Amino acid sequence: MQKTVLFIEGDGIGSEVTRAAQPIINKAVEKAYGKERSLVWKELLAGEKAFKELGEYLPQSTLDALQGAELAMKGPLTTPVGKGFRSLNVTMRQTLDLYACIRPIKYFDGIMSPVKRPELVDMIVFRENTEDVYAGIEFASGTDEARRIIEFFRDQLGVNVDASAGVGLKPMTPAGSKRLVRKAMQHAVAQGKSSVTLVHKGNIMKYTEGGFREWGYELAAEEFADVAVTEKDAAGNANGKIIVKDRIADAMFQEVLIRPEQYSVIATTNLNGDYISDALAAQVGGLGLAPGVNMSDSLAFFEATHGTAPTIAGQDKANPGSLILCGAMLLDHIGWHEAADLIHTAMNKVIAAKTVTVDLASQMDGARTVGCTEFGDLLGAQL
Ligand code: NAI
Repeated sequence: MQKTVLFIEGDGIGSEVTRAAQPIINKAVEKAYGKERSLVWKELLAGEKAFKELGEYLPQSTLDALQGAELAMKGPLTTPVGKGFRSLNVTMRQTLDLYACIRPIKYFDGIMSPVKRPELVDMIVFRENTEDVYAGIEFASGTDEARRIIEFFRDQLGVNVDASAGVGLKPMTPAGSKRLVRKAMQHAVAQGKSSVTLVHKGNIMKYTEGGFREWGYELAAEEFADVAVTEKDAAGNANGKIIVKDRIADAMFQEVLIRPEQYSVIATTNLNGDYISDALAAQVGGLGLAPGVNMSDSLAFFEATHGTAPTIAGQDKANPGSLILCGAMLLDHIGWHEAADLIHTAMNKVIAAKTVTVDLASQMDGARTVGCTEFGDLLGAQL
């Protein structure tokens, strides 16, 4: 059995981590299944490499190939700040309707964490990926568009906005919120998770964030009533059902630090999800190791969660762990669990042996710092 994986190397450290990750993922498949199964990698161009070769950052041919694909993987892509073109990542997420950004966060033994009990963290964040203030509907201060919107608000709605304001829109829909919460609930059912927590800021933004909370509970009642119960209705006894609860975002940032064991699957809005995914990754020792996937109804697009790390690019210092764990997620996603388990076991061993890249070595006592290539070789040897 062969599965095709489209891949984009990415900018900065992207090519280094891709070069380290692919052989590990291939080797895990070979160890688990011999010649019976394999992955076929097909490169697509995006980012600086695409600009150099084709004169554009996100070629239509790349988007077309991704539209029809089932599996893809990418390294990080540079987002120039304030240079007038939108983030490639955001464009891809919206064009391909990758509405769920999913990030598991789990602790690896041996990594120094800023919290006392990092091993209690075992969460998976489902972040809505297409709506919210990230929809990209923004107008700069002083522009004609901003002026017209501010006038419309004043004249038609009786709402005063400072005339010098930059303005943005935060659209959130029942359908968009429900399909995200559905994915989170389905995961909780499939993996036997104990709870799904809706994280929102609905106490302040009542009709957007508050809407998300309301639609989330509605979805759970409409489609999962046989397997799930709200925290309120359970009143301390869920009878083995999944508890659906909600927390206000600021309180949730305290909760994940103080009582991480009480949280398992998190379903949240775009901006909250962006913040909490990174905060949780830091809680277990940093972004270099956190994998992620963006999903539509047809495509699972795995991506390293860190950026292009320009200050260490080209120096063989990058940690390829995030992309390698993306590979394990991909293998789990297609049901090749034996190969995924091999990667996790090898990763555990290499980290426990304290032979790690500089980002992790700086958080460990007595570690030996290795480069990106050697880290890959050590994992390969464990496999
Ligand atoms: P960053 O993640 O690139 O770097 C933050 C810090 O973590 C730096 O000190 C960096 O050296 C370190 N770091 C990151 N990944 C590492 C790895 N694998 N191994 C070792 N150290 C690592 O975030 P930053 O600096 O905010 O962004 C740089 C560029 O990356 C920007 O253009 C940004 O837009 C882009 N970016 C792209 C993402 C994506 O494509 N998914 C995600 C985040 C940022």
